[in-house]
Amino acid sequence: MPKKTSVQDYIRTIVDFPHEGIMFRDVTTLFADPRGFRMAIDQMLHPYAGEQIDKVVGLEARGFILGGAIAHQLSVGFVPIRKKGKLPGTTISQDYKLEYGEAIVEIHDDAIQPGEKILVVDDLLATGGTAEAGIKLIERLGGEIVSCSFIVDLPDLGGRKRLEEMGMDAHVLCA
Ligand code: PRP
Ligand code: ADE
Repeated sequence: MPKKTSVQDYIRTIVDFPHEGIMFRDVTTLFADPRGFRMAIDQMLHPYAGEQIDKVVGLEARGFILGGAIAHQLSVGFVPIRKKGKLPGTTISQDYKLEYGEAIVEIHDDAIQPGEKILVVDDLLATGGTAEAGIKLIERLGGEIVSCSFIVDLPDLGGRKRLEEMGMDAHVLCA
């Protein structure tokens, strides 16, 4: 097997998951490797050196794994945005469209204080629907988004352009 030198080398593609025609970028192989995982977290953090970040928000589900590690490194709190019906407290909701379906995401209504500086984290940017829904929830609570960070961008699906059109700063490790 060739030596892995970049984050991309640790990610595998599963054909026809979860539906026919989808090329699913599987980051579990990256997370499972100590060198790959550390490389990904270090590279995701790099653009934000010296920036004020008060909280990291992770998008379900793989954004929790990345966001938890990044929040720990920054010594700030972590806030989950979850699919509908999973958070126990009082929530606000936002619906959105996916590459393969529709969904609703929620955040606890007391998870972010007005003016807090937020870094949004997820594994992958496809259509940008999930990220946009997350951004809307954070902004409805008065959070100020510093940036959004992803491991993978699928440029053909337009997510990055969509975030740029919203005036969002976005960083990706591989496209
Ligand atoms: C994947 C991925 C992102 C989202 C990106 O999650 O982890 O959250 O899709 O797609 P988009 O840019 O088109 O919105 P998925 O919806 O499969 O949920 P899961 O992580 O809970 O499996
Ligand atoms: N979310 C939306 N599209 C995806 C893809 N192709 N691979 C992994 N996660 C996704």
